[in-house]
Amino acid sequence: MKEQTLIVGLDERSYPIHIGSGVLNQIGPTLAADPVGKRYGIISDDNVAELYGQQIIASLTDAGLACELIVFPAGEEQKHTLTVTDLVSELAGRGFDRGDALVALGGGVVGDITGFLASIYMRGIPFVQVPTSLLAQVDSSVGGKTGVDIPEGKNLIGTFYQPRAVYIDIDVLKTLPPEEFRGGLAEVIKYGVIIDKDFFAFLEENQKAIRDMEPETLVSMIYTCCQIKANVVEQDEREGGLRRILNFGHTIGHAVEAASGFKIIHGLAVSIGMHAVTQLAIQGGYTTDPVLQTLDNLLRAYNLPLEIPAELDRKKIRAYLQTDKKTVGGQIFFVLPEEIGKVIITDQVRPEDIDLVLGNS
Ligand code: GLY
Repeated sequence: MKEQTLIVGLDERSYPIHIGSGVLNQIGPTLAADPVGKRYGIISDDNVAELYGQQIIASLTDAGLACELIVFPAGEEQKHTLTVTDLVSELAGRGFDRGDALVALGGGVVGDITGFLASIYMRGIPFVQVPTSLLAQVDSSVGGKTGVDIPEGKNLIGTFYQPRAVYIDIDVLKTLPPEEFRGGLAEVIKYGVIIDKDFFAFLEENQKAIRDMEPETLVSMIYTCCQIKANVVEQDEREGGLRRILNFGHTIGHAVEAASGFKIIHGLAVSIGMHAVTQLAIQGGYTTDPVLQTLDNLLRAYNLPLEIPAELDRKKIRAYLQTDKKTVGGQIFFVLPEEIGKVIITDQVRPEDIDLVLGNS
């Protein structure tokens, strides 16, 4: 299968996204042809390093590039400042300097931490993204958002810092836990709802091929997601306006994720969040029941959850909503669907509607 490449066009900070099968083995030759550093610090977690660490080291060393693997424990709970300062010490101890670069090999946590680390180490060194989860491939590896969590909320410390390239290998999805693949599909569905009804129809029509991870279908699906994300980021890199639509389902999703102590993984929380905000949109008269039905049918088809688990403390969810980054001056911004392929952003959602949708406990 031929590799597909698209460009995120941000003037002098533009970069390619390579998508295909076998891309991992091409990273070394591609970086050797167009180096971004003298030496590469490959940052990964212990799960992903075990699976793909040696493959990427071989790809870089066979291409004549110096590299070192630096590993931290896997898990969302690692996404905090201590992990970053430990990695800073590790890089400094190994003598990494401004001429060197980082490679983020892993899912969203690795990508967010490595991007943040790259943006602050010696006031910024280059990095490339090698996302190994579907969620990271279609969303978090593209667009330059980096960050870590603090107890008060997710990603409250972070930067906008673009990678120099993104390498997406669909082969790595074979080792992804099924729940993580489903979670990634929630982010995929998001793109259809916010901006592209034809893509939503593609996801309705190609359910079996997607579930079976048919390579051509996966490449086409991931390419469309990255193309949509690139278009949005090109117009609004620092989330002054349009980019907010990418947060569809995330405001409530993040709150649900945090209130569950991160037991509900991000993508599944986003699925719950997309269902909840569509209910909010109905309450506010922004959309109609058939839109919710259409969304729910597709979420169910991919075995994604709709409801906030009854045992989750609603007070906690409300508290997390207030600390969300998207909350400005106490007003919570929501991305609400009007129809499939079209959303609006508003801070005019009535608190009683939020209470109704969250339910009591
Ligand atoms: N994940 C949303 C964004 O990158 O803006």
